[in-house]
Amino acid sequence: MTTAVCPGSFDPVTNGHIDVFVRAAEVFDEVTVAVLINKTKKSLFTVEERIEMLRHQLRDVENVVIDSFHGLLVDYCREHEIGVIVKGLRAVSDFDYELQMAQMNHRLSGVETLFLSTNPIYGYLSSSLVKEVATYGGDISGLVPDDVAGAVYERLGNKG
Ligand code: PNS
Repeated sequence: MTTAVCPGSFDPVTNGHIDVFVRAAEVFDEVTVAVLINKTKKSLFTVEERIEMLRHQLRDVENVVIDSFHGLLVDYCREHEIGVIVKGLRAVSDFDYELQMAQMNHRLSGVETLFLSTNPIYGYLSSSLVKEVATYGGDISGLVPDDVAGAVYERLGNKG
């Protein structure tokens, strides 16, 4: 069975992330979307809330499972016998850091990283920008699923 992991913060999940998960699920037998538990980073949603959102959004994709992890991603991969990390690449600006992480992860455990080119309609999209736009009452519809948009506005105390 071919297995892969899509790791990230997903605070919140965007339509760009979902596009990558669904495409990864067409390539691998099982894809784990793994939410990083990072207690030092301020987040809008708790890890449990992010997992719940991901489960809901991906409920129809049978070979995607949602999980969380802390510590090194390569340790999670080893423990779960996952051989491939899948990342979406939006632009050249992503490349330097992603290449560095891919090479470090390979150095640490031999795990491979495969990059999927992000759908161009989501090339500029990030969770941080979604939160910033929503903070000031901007329109985030079409950038995140509708119920995620509602949750973002509600958490920010902003009707949108
Ligand atoms: O969505 P993000 O916050 O950009 O995702 C970053 C993530 C989770 C992919 C990266 O920070 C990560 O893999 N963290 C786990 C800790 C780790 O393995 N660090 C070494 C990376 S070479």
